[in-house]
Amino acid sequence: MAAAALFAQAIQYSPERKVWLLTTRDSSYALGVAADGALRHLYWGPPLWRIDDIAEPPARRDISSFDPRQMLENEEYPGWGGPLYLEPALKIAREDGGRDLVLRFVSQRTEPNALEISLKDIRDPIEVTLHYRVYPEHGIVRRSATIRNGTAHPLTVDSAQAAAWYLPPGEGYQLSYLSGRWAAETQINREPIHEGVKVLESRKGHTGHNFNPWFAIDRGDAGEENGRVWFGALAWSGNWRIAVEQTPYRQVRVTGGFNTFDFAYPLQPGETLETPAFYAGFSERGLGGASRALHRFEREQIAPGGASSRLRPVLYNSWEATTFAVNEAGQRALAEKAAQLGVELFVMDDGWFGARDNDHAGLGDWGVNPRKFPQGLKGLIDAVNGLKMDFGLWVEPEMVNAASDLYRTHPDWVIRFNGRPLSELRNQMVLNLARADVKEYIFTVLDKLATENHIRYFKWDMNRAVSEPGWPEETPAGQRKLWVDYVRNLYEIIDRLRARHPQLEIESCSGGGGRVDLGILSRVEEVWPSDNTEAFDRLRIQEGFSMAYPAKIMSAWATDVPNMNGRSVPLMFRFLTAMQGALGIGANLNKWNTQDNQLAQKMIGLYKIVRPTVQQGDLYRLLSPRGGDVTANQYVAADGRQSVVFVFRHSQQYNTSVPTLYLRGLDERAIYRVEAVDAKLAERQTQLSGAYLMHGGINVNLRGDYDATAVLVDRL
Ligand code: GLA
Repeated sequence: MAAAALFAQAIQYSPERKVWLLTTRDSSYALGVAADGALRHLYWGPPLWRIDDIAEPPARRDISSFDPRQMLENEEYPGWGGPLYLEPALKIAREDGGRDLVLRFVSQRTEPNALEISLKDIRDPIEVTLHYRVYPEHGIVRRSATIRNGTAHPLTVDSAQAAAWYLPPGEGYQLSYLSGRWAAETQINREPIHEGVKVLESRKGHTGHNFNPWFAIDRGDAGEENGRVWFGALAWSGNWRIAVEQTPYRQVRVTGGFNTFDFAYPLQPGETLETPAFYAGFSERGLGGASRALHRFEREQIAPGGASSRLRPVLYNSWEATTFAVNEAGQRALAEKAAQLGVELFVMDDGWFGARDNDHAGLGDWGVNPRKFPQGLKGLIDAVNGLKMDFGLWVEPEMVNAASDLYRTHPDWVIRFNGRPLSELRNQMVLNLARADVKEYIFTVLDKLATENHIRYFKWDMNRAVSEPGWPEETPAGQRKLWVDYVRNLYEIIDRLRARHPQLEIESCSGGGGRVDLGILSRVEEVWPSDNTEAFDRLRIQEGFSMAYPAKIMSAWATDVPNMNGRSVPLMFRFLTAMQGALGIGANLNKWNTQDNQLAQKMIGLYKIVRPTVQQGDLYRLLSPRGGDVTANQYVAADGRQSVVFVFRHSQQYNTSVPTLYLRGLDERAIYRVEAVDAKLAERQTQLSGAYLMHGGINVNLRGDYDATAVLVDRL
């Protein structure tokens, strides 16, 4: 079946039989209306092309009084009602206490790449619109739902999920997911799916370090480059939840959306609630194929500016060099040094505002500190721009210290329960962004900063999670809206800011990787994956990150040693590790010697040559840091002209050589010039065919501990 024919009609609909077939480059997804009017899932897997093959949902019979047919029916978006005991997509409570919700098909609207299906409760005008968008060229399907209270009475939404996804009937499924904590984010886990529910979630008000909203499921047989993988990612930067469930009937289903924990969203008559979006795809080419599909989709369809957005510049950030001790002279000196190395974007981190000399004071007061910057930011920014670098500035707009003018003026702006203690973490409290006045204040502060100064880039930080989530000014029922409205207002502030300042770019940071998800990614150019910049630790953090997110958005810095874990690895190893993402330097350049500067110049020069390939190419994870003592990642440019392989050896034992590297994604018939940094290539030939590079493989000489190189592969 030619791909073009598949794309001709991404969404097919049979009005007689009421079934739909959604098809992308890599997958199909089918659903249909059963005789009783329920909407049911029918298929998710490799591409199909013929809607006539899709039968109407079969009638089911109860297995026993304890196993009603509803449990077997794979309802596409199950309301909690009738005899249904699995994870529902929607659960509501009426004012009179009635909580039964049985959704039935009402109508549908099909567009070339979008489908809307309306459902309604069997009795009341409680309406659900399911939204589907198909990205045929990217192999991705997007789902979300809008819930509307069409009744004359208030109701409460107890659970609103974006989607329920069903895996094909079968056994032996395995779940891959990302977990971690501060400074140890995105660690890869893979485990069998058993009966019961496995929950990945955040209850912290932001996306969180502990789980990332991504999953991949395979039949237990998938590897990096082979096997069938069903995967998905949720676009929500607040409390989220993904429940992976195997029922007693061997169905595996994934339900995800707003976290149900402490959730109770009131809907007045006529009001609606929109769920986050849940994106999903299917790959026949293992976890590598799944992540390449996601990477391309995120770069081209999610990231601001999409495929036309600029390559990420080489960045310098002063944080690890100066911490809070910033001033104009010090920053100018660092800027001059950074410019000489080839840096393109100079970012001043924390410490430039209010009474911010340490983390006890100043958050909330976003006026420039006159002692540190007597002429405002203008002197520094002009100097930075004069050195042909853009200027970026650290902000943490959602927070306030008790020692601040803002808190003294507006103590009621923080998230808190009345009459209860309030936890300060890093000495700071969280402003209640769900409040309209707080939202306006934050927007005004940032808008003013961006209007009065030539700022190209905000590093937007969030250094603690939400706790004691009270909103005393609201009614008890209204208070619970905080979880959702906080995030919506955060998104709104960023959207308005970007609309007013089209040149402005943003990096999302939350004490490292605490806010990385497809919701924030549609609004920022980069994310900070971890406060842990130790290169060897980073290899694993970056590997996990790369499961779900592309190199282009991944800030990665070369910093000083010994690092936070006490380890010291050579600068070359640190640079090569950071060059696998959007390269930055976070070292104290005042302490670098001539040798360090020369190496940095050389590596930044090399980075600029391979940058389009790293940032926009396809990633092949050749050797995992979780395996042996060698890690290797290969990036291949979209046009196939260039490839680069980063190879790291952390601790050699027994004088064994580095495993042969079998490259991927090259043209078998083409000839490539092959060259390694510091001549570490063991091959005698410097010109090799794609066929040989992929099937014969190449060898590199890495000796001792923490040795590294990069192999450049250029098509002749
Ligand atoms: C957080 C960030 C760091 C730095 C500090 C500043 O920890 O992750 O990169 O910006 O805050 O206080």
